[in-house]
Amino acid sequence: MEVIKQKKRHGHKKLPFHEARLNKKEMDFLWQATSEPNDYNMNNKLAGNISKSKSIPDKNDWFFNSVLSPLVEKDFYSKWDNHFKYHIEKSEPLPEFAMDMFWVNYQKQYQFNPIHDHSGLYSFVVFMKIPTHWKEQHELPICKDSSVRAASNFQFVFTKDQCPGFLTYNIRLSPEDEGKLLFFPADLHHQVYPFYGTEEERITISGNIFFKDELPRSFSVDDPDSPDFHWGLEKFKSDNESR
Ligand SMILES: [Fe+2]
Repeated sequence: MEVIKQKKRHGHKKLPFHEARLNKKEMDFLWQATSEPNDYNMNNKLAGNISKSKSIPDKNDWFFNSVLSPLVEKDFYSKWDNHFKYHIEKSEPLPEFAMDMFWVNYQKQYQFNPIHDHSGLYSFVVFMKIPTHWKEQHELPICKDSSVRAASNFQFVFTKDQCPGFLTYNIRLSPEDEGKLLFFPADLHHQVYPFYGTEEERITISGNIFFKDELPRSFSVDDPDSPDFHWGLEKFKSDNESR
């Protein structure tokens, strides 16, 4: 994985997410995970108005340890309060983190993911297969004369300190984005606009990361019949019902 240094900023502030590009080994691991048979349909647990979302395993926590953990540590301790509490004051032992939900999304043309946020501390999305190019999508008759060309975009929506309204940041997607990972705070809202003109699916992978002592393993466990799996489902349901 190679972390992509951000060049763009909103005003004087850094963008509220990180970007990285996965290597072949990491992408191969993810493709393999999507083909594992012990999956679980997650459509009714997620915001997407899309064909299918299903849980996938992170065997031996390989993806978490190789890719996600360094990003978690980097972001978590870049916050002054966390750095002070755990590295200077040392008032508590260092927290441990874990991925509790890990899933793949299959999106067809016309389908979309409405504005939403995630559970936990951090979340991510990996663009596995992008069948369209934003340049051609933004030239479609419904889009080309709009003042806000949005077809096929992934969009973050966030507020700016002490300013009314909200800001948006668009990721204009093309096949060149396959292998790109966006890593963001779980409460950062985002949405995905529909794409048009192909029967090919868009495929993305996402997951949520929690403090390890706050939630037991659920969707990513290898054995979906384990008590933890069901406990995790119930916890996840109650979390969402309360939102
Ligand atoms: Fe999402």
